Amino acid sequence: MKGLLALPIKFLCTLLLAGIASQSLFAQVPANSEQARVAGFFPAKNLMTIGVYYYPEQWPATDWGRDLANIKKLGFEFTHFAEFAWTYIEPSENNFDFAWLDSAIALAQKAGLRVILCTPTAAPPAWMGEKYPEIYLVDEKGRRREHGNRANQSVTNEKYLQYADRVVAALAQRYGHNPNVMGWQVDNEPGATADYSPSARRAFQQWLQARYGTIDSLNQAWVGSFWSTRYDSFSQIGIPNTSIYVEDKLSPHTVLDFKRFTADAQAAFINRQADTLHKYIGPNQWVTTNYTNVVYDADPRRSAKLDFTSFTMYPVNGTNIAGGNSFRTGSPYKIAEATAYYRSIKGVTGVMELQPGQVNWAPINPQPIPGAVHMWLLHAFAGGCSFACTYRYRHPLGSSEMYHDGIVGTDGVTLENGGKEFVQAIGDMKKLRANYDGNSQMPAAMAKRKTAFLWDHENLWDLENQPQTTAWDTWGYRNKFTAAVKSTAAPVDFISETDNFEAYPFLVAPAYQLVSQTLVDKWVAYVQNGGHLILSCRTGQKDKNGHFFAGKLATHILPLIGADLEFFDMLVPGVTGNVKSGQANYTWNTWAEILSPHAGTKVLATYANQFYAGKAAAITRRMGKGSVTYIGVQSLDGTLERDIIRSVYKDAGVAVEDLPAGVYMEWRDGFFTAVNYIQNQVKVPIAKVSHILVGANPLKQGQAVVWKP
Ligand code: GAL
Repeated sequence: MKGLLALPIKFLCTLLLAGIASQSLFAQVPANSEQARVAGFFPAKNLMTIGVYYYPEQWPATDWGRDLANIKKLGFEFTHFAEFAWTYIEPSENNFDFAWLDSAIALAQKAGLRVILCTPTAAPPAWMGEKYPEIYLVDEKGRRREHGNRANQSVTNEKYLQYADRVVAALAQRYGHNPNVMGWQVDNEPGATADYSPSARRAFQQWLQARYGTIDSLNQAWVGSFWSTRYDSFSQIGIPNTSIYVEDKLSPHTVLDFKRFTADAQAAFINRQADTLHKYIGPNQWVTTNYTNVVYDADPRRSAKLDFTSFTMYPVNGTNIAGGNSFRTGSPYKIAEATAYYRSIKGVTGVMELQPGQVNWAPINPQPIPGAVHMWLLHAFAGGCSFACTYRYRHPLGSSEMYHDGIVGTDGVTLENGGKEFVQAIGDMKKLRANYDGNSQMPAAMAKRKTAFLWDHENLWDLENQPQTTAWDTWGYRNKFTAAVKSTAAPVDFISETDNFEAYPFLVAPAYQLVSQTLVDKWVAYVQNGGHLILSCRTGQKDKNGHFFAGKLATHILPLIGADLEFFDMLVPGVTGNVKSGQANYTWNTWAEILSPHAGTKVLATYANQFYAGKAAAITRRMGKGSVTYIGVQSLDGTLERDIIRSVYKDAGVAVEDLPAGVYMEWRDGFFTAVNYIQNQVKVPIAKVSHILVGANPLKQGQAVVWKP
């Protein structure tokens, strides 16, 4: 792949600056040579390149030239081909037809558009299923999927994998050195769907054997002494089926391992395709996939063979997280979290699909507010995306997504509302490029607030498997911390246990349930060295197998947080508990831990009712050069978390902004950007000497502003 010498000079200089060589914040500061290699795919001066999906196979060939020329005229810089086109690439077994794709790529080149090519593996052709029905996934009720949709394949089926290998290799051999192909998207939205097929069962048994070695050690981990659930051999093990065991719960350890296995199997499939592509393609082409923005079952960090991960993004989908009219700007958390999460994995990310307008697939499909599409694009830019692409150019005339907007409408030429906003953002990007300064540094005030979220999908799986209250929502809980931290205008990365904590003055690990002694030791060292650690309820209660520790509840973190955890509580629907902190009052319903602080620990909040009124709900303590704060209760609206977290920054002597939840302010490549998802008009703190390049201040709902300090 691309050698160091091919990298822009800026990145080489960055690598040499010892002081920041360990930082991973934002694409423009690569942490290591791998991040520098990946960053080299997207010249920093281009900021964010914008493109659009086109499906040549869905339109008459006589339209292709016109459409691609129009795409270019609108200012798009690349297009995206072949995602679900397996039946056109391999119309019958081992008989490949590339003439149509050759011609589409040539027309794109003629129009001046670069191309992202996709492997078509999410849509196996009918002939394959007819010959080998075992290639399909089987659901928990034993129903085998059929031809007629997508993502219906079993990624553990050897037959399917052989076909996938062959089509991926054929594409890579043909286009791996085509100068007009910029990179590859593997599959589509890999979701790690639970698979109950015979091949999945066999693969699960092999996975368990590799993990545990002996059946005795599996029986230990799964607590086989309970209800005679122990096994004599790996071949007896089936896939834990939550549709059969509705009343009596399955062993949570079994379910956790099946989640791990499914994520590994999905990642192995993605990694296998990445390996095949890398074998044939040139060093200038990259390989990614497009994970959905809120991933439950797939774990993007497991597909490490990709050059970087990207994501898809549909904020307006009929939900109304922030209430009022905010359903028209959509979830205020998605872009903020997805950009931070995916960018943090390899330093580079992009949004592969950004909602172009109204969609078809949600239970309710409202129109985004005018301006929202443009704002999302600028939010993606602010979050460090190297590219933004949209699904799709032409509004479909038929089939299951016929109610889905495109950039142009059903006549194939007239811009839809979102299309106009894409064109507007493309114009903005040109203006920003003209004002780009490669030497700009993140302003010191912002850098001092740098914060990492510690995140591991295994906590999500374990928490959702044993929620203990139907009101528990791991992702909703995480959003409260996003709102709290982002209110300060802190730059945020999502990091893993193996990353360098010391690169961040603040480290937040909400509901970090599964811990090892190694992790707790790392937290202690981080705080001793001056870090400010924020932990919250449901942290440290279990080991990595999901067992409680023999000792006090959450025993390993108690010396760190400076308190014992007496017990925890939850309330029934409609009942709220009260918490007091100074003069402020808060309510809670879902999770409360009753803490008994050790000497030297300061109480930040206490319960104001229930039978434990007066007991501690949140605490903090200094330790070594840093501090540890533990928020033991989940407040209903996130305001307790917000107030406490803001006080941690202030107590550390770090200046913070005061942005409402749903308003974001980011710095990237010399530009500040602010966006507003909420109904109220908001004035963001822009220093007087700044030069506003895009938009205006104050911001109405769905508006963005970009300025240079
Ligand atoms: C995405 C999917 C696309 C398209 C789109 C419609 O989730 O990746 O292929 O179906 O939804 O909004």
